[in-house]
Amino acid sequence: MPGFLEVPSAHDARVLSVALIGPDEPRRKTIASVLAECPGVETRVFSSYPADADELPRMLEEHHDVVIVDLDGDPKLAIDMVESICDDGSRTVMVFSEQDDRELVVRCMRAGAREFLALPITVADMADALARVSVRLPGASPARRKAGSLFVFLGAKGGCGVTTLASNFAVLLAQESGEKTLLIDLGLPLGDVAINLGVIAKFSTDNAFQDPSRIDANFLSSLLATHPSGLFVLAAPGDFPPTRVTVDAVDKLLAVARQNFDYVVVDAGSRLDLKGSALFDISATIYLVTQVGISELRNSNRLISQYFATKGRKLQIVLNRFISHAMPFGEEDITKALTRPAQWRIPEDFASARRTRNTATPLALQGSPILIAIRKMARKACGLPENRARKRKGFSFFGRAR
Ligand SMILES: Nc1ncnc2c1ncn2[C@@H]1O[C@H](COP(=O)(O)OP(=O)(O)O)[C@@H](O)[C@H]1O
Ligand SMILES: [Mg+2]
Repeated sequence: MPGFLEVPSAHDARVLSVALIGPDEPRRKTIASVLAECPGVETRVFSSYPADADELPRMLEEHHDVVIVDLDGDPKLAIDMVESICDDGSRTVMVFSEQDDRELVVRCMRAGAREFLALPITVADMADALARVSVRLPGASPARRKAGSLFVFLGAKGGCGVTTLASNFAVLLAQESGEKTLLIDLGLPLGDVAINLGVIAKFSTDNAFQDPSRIDANFLSSLLATHPSGLFVLAAPGDFPPTRVTVDAVDKLLAVARQNFDYVVVDAGSRLDLKGSALFDISATIYLVTQVGISELRNSNRLISQYFATKGRKLQIVLNRFISHAMPFGEEDITKALTRPAQWRIPEDFASARRTRNTATPLALQGSPILIAIRKMARKACGLPENRARKRKGFSFFGRAR
């Protein structure tokens, strides 16, 4: 599992010190009992808000890594407290509430809170939230030496299979490499990566793009959802987003993402409007997803010759829904249209694709022809042999076969 998810465990020398401020006894007890079940956490409980602004520094005199504040007792005072604790910069703030009020969530995030915990909350939810905020603790996240690799999936035409391929590729890349992997859905508006993966995302790229100057490692981590594979996901907005996506905003998001993740995968849909952005930087690997049809091949030809013919450009062509015995064109014609041979062929696999859509779990592809083909792509991308090592009789293997 990537280090990003690790909560300091009981065995670590570092204990996470938490201050819990909650004037309402039942809510406070709920949070305190969930915290008590999280390993490596030491909690100091405050049963009232400070009487005034001067009292807050005195109250939090002792150092705490994380301060958790009840919003519902007095939302305005609570948000003022969040702002003042965050201004100091030495502590991470989380808030909790029984209300599922989006406006309140956004106000808290703007004030600097890193996590919004909606009650009721499970121990697993709390452990995940603490894991996410713990990246901002001193020494928790050593500076990266090298920018993470960027893999961009772009469609020759809408409906070519970009989302299906990008989301399964990202899951498999996270699983096969065991490295920190982020999937960003830029297939705006109404991208459907989160739906495809069955993850519930509270935040989206829209929250990042509202104020690009605020995007840093901590803010980005607070916007992410997690998939059981260990993959982190920055979803697209679930509604028509009010914010216009600028090249500068995309550049900032990708820069922060690549500083903090080993692998960044982007579902770019058919967004050629972002052509001038870091999405199409020469260091990025572009997976051009197309199908064997007249208009798809014609679009691919234009895209390749106009945008991706530069020397040194890492372009991989993916023929999706490929059925070798039933193609309207022969291999030679396809290569001629694409100006070069395609690197990858993903078979038409209607049953698995439908199962994925209905169950919203990419793992439903397990063992399917699509999965086998995409796993090869993911393994190659992280420098592993395309095929997994096969177990040989008479040998026992410990650990993961890579
Ligand atoms: N290899 C495949 N075999 C069968 N169906 C596929 C395959 N790839 C994608 N699909 C289906 O095609 C449709 C469009 O795919 P999607 O990934 O949403 O495309 P895009 O993101 O490019 O618009 C979806 O219904 C998806 O399930
Ligand atoms: Mg899509």
